[in-house]
Amino acid sequence: MNEVFRGRLAIIGMGYIGLPTAVAIATRGIDVIGVDVNPATVAAISRGEVPFVEPDLAVAVSGAVAMGRLKATTETPEADAFIIAVPTPFNEDRTADLSYVKTAAEQIAPKLKPGDIIVLESTSPPGTTEKIGTWIGALRPDLRMPRDGQAVADVYIAHCPERVLPGRIMIEIVTNDRVVGGLTPKCAEKAASIYRLFAQGEILLTDAASAEMAKLSENAYRDVNIAFANELSMICESLHIDVWEVIRLANRHPRVSILSPGPGVGGHCIPVDPWFIVSAAPRLARLIRTAREVNDRRPHDVAEQVVAKAQRFRSPTIACLGLTFKANVDDARESPAIEVVSLIAKALPEFDILAADPYVHTLPKQLREFGNLRLESAYQAVERADIVVLLVEHEPFKAIRHTRLGGKVVYDTRGAWR
Ligand SMILES: NC(=O)c1ccc[n+]([C@@H]2O[C@H](COP(=O)([O-])OP(=O)(O)OC[C@H]3O[C@@H](n4cnc5c(N)ncnc54)[C@H](O)[C@@H]3O)[C@@H](O)[C@H]2O)c1
Repeated sequence: MNEVFRGRLAIIGMGYIGLPTAVAIATRGIDVIGVDVNPATVAAISRGEVPFVEPDLAVAVSGAVAMGRLKATTETPEADAFIIAVPTPFNEDRTADLSYVKTAAEQIAPKLKPGDIIVLESTSPPGTTEKIGTWIGALRPDLRMPRDGQAVADVYIAHCPERVLPGRIMIEIVTNDRVVGGLTPKCAEKAASIYRLFAQGEILLTDAASAEMAKLSENAYRDVNIAFANELSMICESLHIDVWEVIRLANRHPRVSILSPGPGVGGHCIPVDPWFIVSAAPRLARLIRTAREVNDRRPHDVAEQVVAKAQRFRSPTIACLGLTFKANVDDARESPAIEVVSLIAKALPEFDILAADPYVHTLPKQLREFGNLRLESAYQAVERADIVVLLVEHEPFKAIRHTRLGGKVVYDTRGAWR
């Protein structure tokens, strides 16, 4: 009991999750081999560099590589434990695309020996961890896969979902509680031995399907609550009531905590993961589906409001402040702000649209097709605008003085200028 892993560990997928996990384990004296299909990623890590921006990660990677504890390769090696941290996007029909997970399992299969541990960290629909056992079992009939109710197995398979927040990954990877769900209790115990190396939070042992569903439930919970705030915002706008004042007052109730509305939900977790629940139980997941639809619809609602405001002018200039998916980061993937700007530029081709974001230095490719749209400094954009739309509450935007907004129509989708 409370065993701590010793041996060689390979991590498949060196992205936002795999690389910080590799560093956290390597700095605890374990030899870690990072595997990635992208040769540029492998080359960068081998030089001790990080192929993306995440606070405090660069120094940790260069240290782990310099110590010889972290190596990167495109070939899956033999190891005593394997962590899978590959993408799990959705297909066009919004079912989970498990092809990356399956490929990773197939890469691991020929390298396995009795006693090895496999942990799936990728966010996955219920039953995926079990599928890993089936896929590997088909390729390695010589190894007994773990099965519920059977005491003996040659390898141990578990799910340990990741719940870190981009921008705080290096802190949260250590401090967050971890849920470890095994295909059998022994699998959970074996997988937990890896997280005991570095996790300071509690390690909660369970079965694999519960761990899969717990992770999806966390993001669906967030999505439903954001959808409530967004819907409230639309209702209040239509009734000419200030939604921020309503939320401020309602939140004085001791058991009410309404979230802040915004222009939509971005990133690659919250807008994706609830669909895995919907596709697992389509008839039952009515609230979760509706929340997704409300949040997906939100950029259209915001753009329509801006277009309506533009009708009051003959030839307005519109400043859109913020393009990233949330405040104070440079990540613009799945950003609702970009969708809002693109909808406005499309609906108002005859008017000038100025986009500004301190973290975005070239116009994102989704916005390059619009001749009426260009990137400007926030100062210039606000100066020239008749209508100012705040889409992301970056600190420099929050600091814009109210006097600079005087005489302009202001649409603050984040409530940052109240
Ligand atoms: N980024 C987050 O904040 C976050 C938070 C919680 C959970 N997750 C989940 O973690 C998983 C990984 O997300 P991410 O953000 O790290 O993705 P990512 O795209 O940053 O990284 C994935 C990496 O896997 C590599 N890869 C793909 N197939 C491979 C294969 N067969 N062998 C080796 N490498 C392969 C890719 O080249 C890429 O470098 C996803 O399921 C995601 O939903 C992410």
